[in-house]
Amino acid sequence: MNFDKIDREARKILRRNDRGGYTVPTAGLYPYQWNWDSCFAAWGFSTFDVKRAWFEIHTLFTGQWDNGMLPHIIFHKRADGYFPGPDVWDVPRVPHTSGISQPPVAATMIRSIYEADKRYGRVHMELIYGRLVSWHRWFIKNRMERGMIAITHPWESGRDNARDWDKAMANIDPTGVGEYHRRDTDHVDPEMRPKKEDYDRYLKIVYHNRDCGWNEERIAKTGLFRVADVGITFIFLRACRDLLHIALELDHETAEIEGWIKDLEAGVENHWNPKGFYDSVDLKTGEFTDSLSSASFFEWYSGMSGDRMLGHLNRILDEVKFGVPSNDPEDEHFNPKRYWRGPVWGMVNTLIGIGLDEQGHIKTAERLRKETQELIAEHGFYEYFSPLDGAPEGGDVFTWTAAIWLTWAGPHAKGRF
Ligand code: SER
Repeated sequence: MNFDKIDREARKILRRNDRGGYTVPTAGLYPYQWNWDSCFAAWGFSTFDVKRAWFEIHTLFTGQWDNGMLPHIIFHKRADGYFPGPDVWDVPRVPHTSGISQPPVAATMIRSIYEADKRYGRVHMELIYGRLVSWHRWFIKNRMERGMIAITHPWESGRDNARDWDKAMANIDPTGVGEYHRRDTDHVDPEMRPKKEDYDRYLKIVYHNRDCGWNEERIAKTGLFRVADVGITFIFLRACRDLLHIALELDHETAEIEGWIKDLEAGVENHWNPKGFYDSVDLKTGEFTDSLSSASFFEWYSGMSGDRMLGHLNRILDEVKFGVPSNDPEDEHFNPKRYWRGPVWGMVNTLIGIGLDEQGHIKTAERLRKETQELIAEHGFYEYFSPLDGAPEGGDVFTWTAAIWLTWAGPHAKGRF
């Protein structure tokens, strides 16, 4: 295997998906700047062009709202082929953005970019620190419930059609959304994307929240969907720890962030489903979602030690050829093709693998890294893959798959933040 060639290919993908200061996840299917994709892109760039990495971060934050929210899509320039575009979200600001957020990996990735070259990064870190704090404050003020982080739309989780949302979505009446033309299935096999019944509800929630003027208080009171996302709680806890580290480094006040960490650590317990795994919680009904997904394994990444989830992880790794499937293969709805209902995502493996390694589960971490390496080396830089045979799925020439090759999965990668 010519790994140098694959390294070069990964760097080329980041350059090729660069639209002049921001990186699209992949041409065609996702033609704008997506929040967490962009953070992974910046982390990938930092392995060979730290200047470009910081540029990505600054461009992302041009989309930040006055209330601190960092949206999930920034529509910098007109692009064809994506639905729903800026006209549907109808957010009255420039650059146009969506009206929801996404998993807050930014503080973690930015810390790593800063540490790649502190001398160059210092001024950038000083500039971006306050913006990171205000985004984190937005989560605390509007989304923290019993120490867990709520989402108001499945798209905010980044795991659009995960099993976690099934029960909450079933409680939404999808009628009245009218005709619309999905564009995702023009680019990718519909079998690999969410179903129409999902899209009807995705749009119903967007229309409702837009009619609330994107006002968080009104959405909290009247919203159609409110689920505490186990993935985001773990990711946010980790991000708060990295933010604390940055605050100490820059000599800023830390008491507020320390308070958040304490509350989130307590909140993690509320994600523990007595059936024996970390789970999301439907805040409208108070019920667990009964979904053992790959996000349940972000425990270690969040900075929590322990081996509560290790049994499930080892079982699942033994059940598939390539881990970690986004849904438990023993679940009756497991589907190795359909987006977040089974396929393996390289960037999820990265977060799980780095967490495992940090918490001393070195062998499992290495197994996961090797499996991810093989997937990408043999099948290409795809968006996701079948856990059963590694078949490539979703979009090709994918930014975050290239980024994690350079930072974690590839044989020349550092393998940590
Ligand atoms: N992931 C969603 C999509 O596929 C939105 O972020 O369009």
